[in-house]
Amino acid sequence: MSSQTEPRILLTRDEIAAAVRRLSAEIGKEYRGKCPLLIGILKGSFVFMADLVRSLDFPLEVEFIKLSSYGRGRESLGKVSVVSGLTSPIEGRDVLVVEDIVDTGITLSFLIDYLKKEKPASLRLCALTDKPSRRQSALTIDYLGFTVPDRFIVGYGIDWDEKFRYLPDICYLEDEK
Ligand code: IMP
Ligand code: MG
Repeated sequence: MSSQTEPRILLTRDEIAAAVRRLSAEIGKEYRGKCPLLIGILKGSFVFMADLVRSLDFPLEVEFIKLSSYGRGRESLGKVSVVSGLTSPIEGRDVLVVEDIVDTGITLSFLIDYLKKEKPASLRLCALTDKPSRRQSALTIDYLGFTVPDRFIVGYGIDWDEKFRYLPDICYLEDEK
């Protein structure tokens, strides 16, 4: 993949905004009045998280976890570790994990096991995008924005080699296979 590749739009900012509204309505039905703890996975989820929390019109709390999985390239290293973990206890909390992309599922499977040990009252997943064709670890996405094809995407917080996070739309970097 060349860094010279021109990004081409897959999901427009308007489509993303509509998905965020839909997800926040679904999440609100479940979590209103429960003061859930939303845990974003850094760095990719930061833009999605910012839009999602502003669309949720009830009290909640926000936490971030930084995991290492992908290196600087495209393929998952297959091994996940916590680079920066929880800063407060989650025992008894209603936890909603917020992720940008579920690809192989290795990152989230690891995180779910890690969080379950801390005994939250409930634990669910919200993902903006899902690439089911690449799944290696089975998991349930409770709140999903979009299913996307197996192509490398960037923008709306999602990077390639730390680049393109600023793009307001979600774009393809690669030509169609
Ligand atoms: P997984 O462990 O393979 O599910 O990896 C999930 C993580 O890999 C996501 O949270 C992203 O950070 C990264 N990732 C997977 N696919 C893409 C992509 O198409 N573009 C950018 N990052 C990706
Ligand atoms: Mg991520």
